[in-house]
Amino acid sequence: MKGLILSGGKGTRLYPLTYTRAKQLIPIANEPVLFRVIRAIRDAGVNEIGIVIGETGPEVREAVGDGSRWGVRVTYIEQDKPAGLAHAVQISRAFLGDERFVMFLGDNVIQGGISPLIEQFASSPWNSQIVLTRVPNPQHFGVAELHADGSIKQLVEKPAVPASDLALVGIYMFDAHIFEAVAAIKPSARGELEITDAIQWLVSAGKSVHPYVHSGWWIDTGKPLDMLSANNRVLEELAPGNAGTVDDKSTLGHHVIVQAGATIINSVVRGPTIIGENTRLENAYIGPYTSVYHDCEIVNSELEHSIVLEHVRLTNVPLRIVDSMIGRYAEIGHTTHLPRALQTNLGDHSKLWVP
Ligand code: G1P
Repeated sequence: MKGLILSGGKGTRLYPLTYTRAKQLIPIANEPVLFRVIRAIRDAGVNEIGIVIGETGPEVREAVGDGSRWGVRVTYIEQDKPAGLAHAVQISRAFLGDERFVMFLGDNVIQGGISPLIEQFASSPWNSQIVLTRVPNPQHFGVAELHADGSIKQLVEKPAVPASDLALVGIYMFDAHIFEAVAAIKPSARGELEITDAIQWLVSAGKSVHPYVHSGWWIDTGKPLDMLSANNRVLEELAPGNAGTVDDKSTLGHHVIVQAGATIINSVVRGPTIIGENTRLENAYIGPYTSVYHDCEIVNSELEHSIVLEHVRLTNVPLRIVDSMIGRYAEIGHTTHLPRALQTNLGDHSKLWVP
């Protein structure tokens, strides 16, 4: 069994963060989403992983390397244009050979515990297994209609009138029949070779496609709010622990993770929250539902329900910061100069809300 992770795309809905960082590398609970996907595949006993990369390829290569950190071997496969998920499968043929494989979208965050499902497919008789989950807005996804006995009747990519609320989650398992399918289908209205159409081809050709309905949470992290929701969920999953230094004037609430080298002075931290390596908090209030990545400094400031990337500095900020994503090396501070006004140096596509 092999693994295939798709890690291309521009992530335009996450600008400005994705101007300078691949969306799959944005941390959720202080771990890039892509790393979490690699771990899920590795935990299923799969250690040959192909990663399909696009424009942000160099960054992904640099962050992931050869995979030895996770005990896996990573092969990079370059996709010269975003021509669809089925196209990504097609160009990965040489890497995949005739082995069964799991394909995972590198920006999908799913509740832990998916690994046994992948492991089970390795020795199953099915030609494919797909993961479905109920969603309130199925028209934005691939949608499955099932027969009364639970088998697949039909799969349609982003139908205007969905036949059910069962969306295809970005985790797919295939045997080599999928290559026949991707060779047979035509590009969709958006000009892409859709994996949903390829799986429908398998169903029509009488191949066995087994649907698994996932009842836990699943988030496709396209937009900032999705990132924050995914962060909330993953923070709830993590085991609390303190590997840093916390002075006796500080209070750590339930479910707080303090990573190695972090220093917390005269501060209040409410969980679920994670404070990253070598981050320093002084006279700060943090949390709940907040991730502060490594090497940040938060002094005389308050932060809640937010994701803060590395090397951020918040100093004497007079208002509590909430529901925010703050990119690398950003600084927010306080000025006493007149005029009493907002002074900014915002990047392209930045967003700032003032009460
Ligand atoms: C893709 C698939 C879709 C699936 C979704 C899951 O959509 O085409 O069938 O439901 O991923 O995230 P896209 O993100 O390319 O619009």
